[in-house]
Amino acid sequence: MVLLRCALLIVLIRAALSSKPGPQVLSTDGEVWPKPQKQEKFDQYYVVDAQLFEFQPDVRNCQILDKAFLRYQRIIQDDNQAVENHANSLNRVHYEATWIRDPFFVGYLKGLNVSLKGHCELYPSKEVDLLQKERYRIEINQTGAWLESNTVWGILRGLETFSQMVYLAQDEESLRMNLTSITDEARFSHRGLLIDTSRHFIPVKVLCTMLDAMAYNKLNVFHWHIVDDQSFPYVSKRFPKLSEKGAYSQNHIYSVSDVQYIIDYARDRGIRVIPEFDTPGHTRSWGLAYPELLTQCYTGTKKNGLLGPIDPTNQSSYTFLKELFKEIIEVFPDRYIHLGGDEVPFECWQSNPTIQEFMKEHKLVDYKALESYYVQHLLDMVTAMNSTPIVWEEVFNNGVNISKDTIVHVWYPSRWEKTLYNVTDAGQWALLSGCWYLDIVNSYGDGDWLKYYRCEPTNFNGTHQQAELILGGEACMWAEAVNQYNIIQRVWPRASAAAERLWSPADVRDEAEAKRRLEEHTCRMNRRGIHAQPPNGPGFCRH
Ligand SMILES: *[C@@H]1O[C@H](CO)[C@@H](O)[C@H](O)[C@H]1NC(C)=O
Ligand SMILES: *[C@@H]1O[C@H](CO)[C@@H](O)[C@H](O)[C@H]1NC(C)=O
Ligand SMILES: *[C@@H]1O[C@H](CO)[C@@H](O)[C@H](O)[C@H]1NC(C)=O
Ligand SMILES: *[C@@H]1O[C@H](CO)[C@@H](O)[C@H](O)[C@H]1NC(C)=O
Ligand SMILES: *[C@@H]1O[C@H](CO)[C@@H](O)[C@H](O)[C@H]1NC(C)=O
Ligand SMILES: *[C@@H]1O[C@H](CO)[C@@H](O)[C@H](O)[C@H]1NC(C)=O
Ligand SMILES: *[C@@H]1O[C@H](CO)[C@@H](O)[C@H](O)[C@H]1NC(C)=O
Repeated sequence: MVLLRCALLIVLIRAALSSKPGPQVLSTDGEVWPKPQKQEKFDQYYVVDAQLFEFQPDVRNCQILDKAFLRYQRIIQDDNQAVENHANSLNRVHYEATWIRDPFFVGYLKGLNVSLKGHCELYPSKEVDLLQKERYRIEINQTGAWLESNTVWGILRGLETFSQMVYLAQDEESLRMNLTSITDEARFSHRGLLIDTSRHFIPVKVLCTMLDAMAYNKLNVFHWHIVDDQSFPYVSKRFPKLSEKGAYSQNHIYSVSDVQYIIDYARDRGIRVIPEFDTPGHTRSWGLAYPELLTQCYTGTKKNGLLGPIDPTNQSSYTFLKELFKEIIEVFPDRYIHLGGDEVPFECWQSNPTIQEFMKEHKLVDYKALESYYVQHLLDMVTAMNSTPIVWEEVFNNGVNISKDTIVHVWYPSRWEKTLYNVTDAGQWALLSGCWYLDIVNSYGDGDWLKYYRCEPTNFNGTHQQAELILGGEACMWAEAVNQYNIIQRVWPRASAAAERLWSPADVRDEAEAKRRLEEHTCRMNRRGIHAQPPNGPGFCRH
């Protein structure tokens, strides 16, 4: 180990000695992240007239679009600040002369025609197949600029792409946009980011910044791992004691209106919010308010005062859960709910004589069977409330009888290919996170994102039909070692790697080219107020 470290140190020192002046990786100008499915690019360009620029929609009073136009108007104007700063000090006419003679200059772009073919929806669709819906087309040609889609969600993705094609000319004298033609859609319908708000509380404002960044990367699912062993920040209307006792403090809670605010904020950006209330393990904080919900642990024949997972043998547990989940399903409009089911420790169940008796009575041969008994009850309960469960892989591995529409979330890093094989071989929908754990940091002189970029969800040993059952995946930000002060730079642009893998065609894997685009994309996020860390080692941002 010591030897290995020394070797590594030598490599690092050598890298330092042999370094060249200037940035490690040259940024692109006006390239899109994640890369579109199809893009034709030309050398002719417009100079973007940020002052006069406006979106020209063919629909009126579509709130989600109207709000998006304001956001993107602002982004284009902010980008123009660099030009303004330049132009203020000198004569603008002088600058104009530099492009007016350029044969590639085709005119001034004063707007974007936006055409919505379908109707103005209010919430991202509850259908499994969102794929069609995020499709959009952009045409920037000699006559003008067009964006069209069948859905508002497609328009939102297209606006993001359009805003990314605006770039600052090398001489910083103009904002430009090249002629281009794009037909684009997501490769996977579920492109998520898990944020754990239990290990450390993440304030609403920071979650909103994360949602902004998700939209800049075309991620469309916020998996809110909202409570866990350590704290219960979710304020329940039905059981307010859960957060009164279970939150770290009353400054570290999500009120009813906070939660609604997050859902609406995400909705405006085409992002679904799927909450996770993980049981029967990971529930220690629930026991601060409701100790009777959890299993009493024993040492020998005596209760030792410790509490384990939810007590699966007591009918009152299910009564409680039914009321809690009824509320959760009403609060979160998405059709899916994440029920967890991972990492259940069996020692406490094992020590408890009442549980032993119950298992004998119900012919449950082992603790996996007991866990399955619990999960089966929970799944049936939630399904009866018209919600569709997502569960961590343990639930599947333990042989719980899950319905065909239940999604299995594959997470265990070192064996995800095999688990994906098993899950899809059984005909279940699958989500992948195993290769996108953002809490695993190993960075030597760069931003530690290529390992995420290299992960290919369909790169397992299954048939084509099995691969079709992969709905997408999620980058996971477990919060043991992040809080509001470092979560943004820990996640971005590392999650951007997963975002491109989940959006772009499978053959987009030219790493040298991706490095250059990510260099630009990271600066773009920085400009928009996302404190993303540098992706590629030494470098700088032009604006
Ligand atoms: C835009 O056009 C310029 C020439 O005017 C060319 O150098 C550049 O590569 C083009 N960029 C994109 C993103 O198409
Ligand atoms: C530019 O694109 C629009 C929209 O697709 C189309 O109607 C128009 O004919 C195109 N103009 C040229 C010169 O290709
Ligand atoms: C919008 O479309 C109209 C009609 O097709 C066209 O005349 C106009 O130039 C377009 N506007 C922009 C900003 O491209
Ligand atoms: C079951 O839970 C209820 C309250 O939640 C408690 O009063 C009761 O004693 C428990 N029963 C057993 C057998 O532990
Ligand atoms: C699983 O559930 C299905 C449908 O509810 C049922 O037909 C089947 O018998 C169950 N299998 C087991 C092993 O419980
Ligand atoms: C996949 O299924 C096989 C057969 O049931 C089992 O032996 C193996 O352990 C499973 N692999 C994983 C990673 O769960
Ligand atoms: C794929 O499956 C085949 C047959 O089941 C097996 O021989 C092969 O080793 C597997 N390959 C990988 C990479 O798991």
